[in-house]
Amino acid sequence: MSKRPVIIDCDPGHDDAIALLMALASDKLDVKGITTIAGNNTVEKTTINTLKILELTGMTHIPVAVGRRNPLMQTIQVANDVHGVSGMDGPELPDPITKPVDLSAVELIAKIVEESEEKVTLVAVGPFTNIGVFLLAYPHLHDKIECISLMGGGYYEGNRTALSEFNIWQDPEAARVVMRSGIPVLLHGLDVTHKALVKKDEFSIFREEKGPIFQFVADLLDFFAICYTGERKLEGCPMHDSCAIAHLIDPTLFTSYDAPIDIDLDGTLTRGACIVDLRPRERRDNPDNGKMVLDLDRKRFLNLIIDSCRKIESNLKNA
Ligand code: RIB
Ligand code: CA
Repeated sequence: MSKRPVIIDCDPGHDDAIALLMALASDKLDVKGITTIAGNNTVEKTTINTLKILELTGMTHIPVAVGRRNPLMQTIQVANDVHGVSGMDGPELPDPITKPVDLSAVELIAKIVEESEEKVTLVAVGPFTNIGVFLLAYPHLHDKIECISLMGGGYYEGNRTALSEFNIWQDPEAARVVMRSGIPVLLHGLDVTHKALVKKDEFSIFREEKGPIFQFVADLLDFFAICYTGERKLEGCPMHDSCAIAHLIDPTLFTSYDAPIDIDLDGTLTRGACIVDLRPRERRDNPDNGKMVLDLDRKRFLNLIIDSCRKIESNLKNA
């Protein structure tokens, strides 16, 4: 079966890093390019972290392009409190020797989509600024996008405000452009990603396996847990961004609901809220534009992360 061509837009970021490992390991996905965005930290730092991950995994053939430095209508607010000052504190990886390509993120997305013989799937697991600008700048390429698998939002909860989740909170205008693009979205909000945990007592699975990839993930989990099992009082680390990748690898892992999904821009208390209309279809005001993902099979999801690490370890050994 042919691989699904994907472009991943990300802001590594501890959970972005594990999502990238899952994508790079999968025999179902063909990662055509990775674009970086400001979010968890500055775009300079998220780019350095992306290059470090590709060098660690031996996947430096994949082009990386630098994305937008700020959201469309507001200034970036990085998440040192969650990911540390490097954006990926914990693991000690050497400074990268590879460089990004000489195109902007939006230009690389357009180039890959234009040159692809089949439709391309976009994955966005940081603020959606790059994706929004691409959709606004290249309307003629929309019909070559299969779907957009996103980490963002939430039906019941936010994490930067009561109702706004970080990726959408950073750039609500870009998020609205994405939701109103007419391209189907798979939206993995906090409702499902807070269930997509690697639990504290499962960290040892990674620490006890030999190899640079398992040790990298163990170091990521240890740092990520400071915030999530500390002040946020979760049972472990939420693999937010891996949900957007895992759904493309094995959709049976997830439970989702077709629905109209939109983003509030104007509310003083609700700006950046993800509005999902789950009322009976005949009462809905707008057509469905995507799937709202609300649940997953956590054990099988965890096994996919473990298997992904094993696959890359094996690739490195056989290289
Ligand atoms: O709210 C969680 C999201 O914000 C994840 O994508 C995480 O990496 C951060 O970008
Ligand atoms: Ca992210």
